[in-house]
Amino acid sequence: MKRTLSALEGQPLEGERALVRVDFNVPLKDGRVADATRITATLPTIAWLRGRGCRVILLSHLGRPNGSRDPKYSLRPVAAELERQLGSPVTFIEDPTTPEAEQQSRHLKRGQVALVENTRFWSGEETNDPALAASFARLGDIFVNDAFGTAHRAHASTEGVARLVKPAVAGLLMQRELEYLGTALSNPKRPFVAILGGAKISGKIDVIEAMLPKVDEILIGGAMACTFFAAMGLEIGKSLVERDKVELARDLIARAGKKIVVPVGAVVAAEAKPGVRTTSVARDAIPRDQAVFDIDQRTRDDYAARIRRAKTVLWNGPMGVAEVPPFDQGTLSIAKAMVEATGRGATTVVGGGDSAAAVATAGIQDRMSHVSTGGGASLEFLEGKTLPGVAALDDA
Ligand code: 3PG
Repeated sequence: MKRTLSALEGQPLEGERALVRVDFNVPLKDGRVADATRITATLPTIAWLRGRGCRVILLSHLGRPNGSRDPKYSLRPVAAELERQLGSPVTFIEDPTTPEAEQQSRHLKRGQVALVENTRFWSGEETNDPALAASFARLGDIFVNDAFGTAHRAHASTEGVARLVKPAVAGLLMQRELEYLGTALSNPKRPFVAILGGAKISGKIDVIEAMLPKVDEILIGGAMACTFFAAMGLEIGKSLVERDKVELARDLIARAGKKIVVPVGAVVAAEAKPGVRTTSVARDAIPRDQAVFDIDQRTRDDYAARIRRAKTVLWNGPMGVAEVPPFDQGTLSIAKAMVEATGRGATTVVGGGDSAAAVATAGIQDRMSHVSTGGGASLEFLEGKTLPGVAALDDA
């Protein structure tokens, strides 16, 4: 267990400069933030610190500018969105490596918030350069990591700086992510059902392996299901399949027995285009000239019934080509069944990435127990890997 903000309760925090790593790696469109979910998710931590008289200095990356100052990746539009959300001005720190940056941090008033320019504008960020970490460290008296989405990166602003500024604790969002993806799933209420989708089995294999001993069932969807169909000796037509993983899928089915549940049927079409003619077929009747783009209605009903019976549900990865209607229907049916399960008292966790996006598009993120803000980070965490950004924090 790691030390959290609540461990600092009662300590004199008034006037302290709280250096907070957040994950403001958000999509931009026409110079504005297109989806502010990750910003909103950190507001409780910012409010907690401001409420105790801290001065708050935020660090984040945006995109992959590869160590150069590419204006396209400036955090200025994010600062504007943050000002809107906080209803108060945000000081922008242009260059954290200069003495002026430290001065700026010291001149902030109690409760004031500053945002540092994209940490990846400096090449030392991704190499976890101690000199850059020391520059960041000069901006704070305490360190808070609320960037769960970036915790799988051992970078200067996530790992290096946490070794230099003490105390170094988990923020409220980080704590919530670790509780839901960690504690809730390692000690689940049963039945525990995991739903795993997405294009490739190769990206999910470690999650499947890590989950198998813990879950009662893993429901498979997405193009990944086709690799399982191939392993079962079924015709898969022109569907996406990982030929080199068919043997692995066969081995998983043999080892997992009834724990691995594959779709009973699929929605097939010539291509994944809006308006294309679609057909629902049983899994042993996939036409040679068509490809699988979604789970069919029978599978949706079957999966929904299993989800509704569960007490713990974890979902990662879409069931079909969710960004191209009508191939989003299987994915939506999972989201809806999870909402019902939540209503019946189950713990429901959406593991970030495309499935979190689908839940947000449907406007039902508040009706799940937890929707992770992590993509790659949640996968690595579910695989049981140590996240360097978390490991560097103080032990509880
Ligand atoms: C994410 O969006 O998954 C995180 O912000 C990490 O970004 P990265 O994959 O560019 O390191």
